[in-house]
Amino acid sequence: MIEASAPSKVIIVGEHFVVKGQPAIAAALDVRSKARIEENLKGIIIRSINLNFEVMIPMELSGSLPKEAEPFRRILKTMSERYGKLRPAKITLESEIPVGSGMGSSASTFAAFTAAYSKYLGVELSLDEVNEIVYEAECVVHGKPSGIDNTIVTYGGVIAYRKGEGFLRLNVKINQDYAWLVADTGVRRSTGDLVRRVLDLYDKYEEVLMPLYHAAGHLAIEAAKALEQGDYEKLGELMNINQGMLEAIGVSTLQISEIVYKAKEAGALGAKLTGAGGGGAVLILAKRGDLNEVEEAIKPYTAKIFKTRIAHTGIRVKEFNER
Ligand code: PMV
Repeated sequence: MIEASAPSKVIIVGEHFVVKGQPAIAAALDVRSKARIEENLKGIIIRSINLNFEVMIPMELSGSLPKEAEPFRRILKTMSERYGKLRPAKITLESEIPVGSGMGSSASTFAAFTAAYSKYLGVELSLDEVNEIVYEAECVVHGKPSGIDNTIVTYGGVIAYRKGEGFLRLNVKINQDYAWLVADTGVRRSTGDLVRRVLDLYDKYEEVLMPLYHAAGHLAIEAAKALEQGDYEKLGELMNINQGMLEAIGVSTLQISEIVYKAKEAGALGAKLTGAGGGGAVLILAKRGDLNEVEEAIKPYTAKIFKTRIAHTGIRVKEFNER
């Protein structure tokens, strides 16, 4: 049996602005999704525990399939074209990441699937190849994403990302005195819809918004420096400024604001929505000593709170010997 896992992600600063070419900073988190592969006699069975579906994709990859199976068909098609083979299998998908929350659940699941299935085929894929294949699957679900999600879940760590230019791994100075919380609002939303809304607003007010986009780019560069210098007080301030910018382009919500203000009132250094907004998750940076108080303060406004760490490795693959 083969099992692969991939982390979730948060965007520390720069979401939406990244779509128009500004840099953004993302981190992988140790809240993971897994793909487990067992031998099967015919067809490729995919079972998702979280989404509660099971489909069988025929070996010819043809025929009509439910919507959820399409990104997997796309991954299998690329593998069959590039590596000339497929093998029947049963693949079970399971994830700790809430779906539609801005934590990269789809990219993470596709990355785990791609890594596990390529190992099962006996094909050694480089991380760059996995990243490319996952991006294609992300396009099936999200239209034309910036590519930040597939990149961070594949490589792990913390990256500065710029569309079209790729990414730079940041050498983050970890300081155990500071910690992250990710609060899920429980409100699911579509990244594609929010991105389109923001792009429409940009087209309508380009002269007004262009300086804001440039400012967000400068902010991301400052945030990268703060991370590399271990200046978490500064990083918190930059996150708060970024939240104001995201509010300006209309992707925050009352519930997000409640979480942000309650967290800051309880001592958080920085709090902002992470991902596309409109619901989804809120990222909070606090001194470790203030963590419990912050958690108590935001609890009434959240569906789930993750106390988690940065995942320094992206994809992991394990092989078990069956008896
Ligand atoms: O899908 P989410 O919620 O993780 O957000 C994606 C981040 C955006 O910048 C809004 C879109 C993108 O493609 O980068």
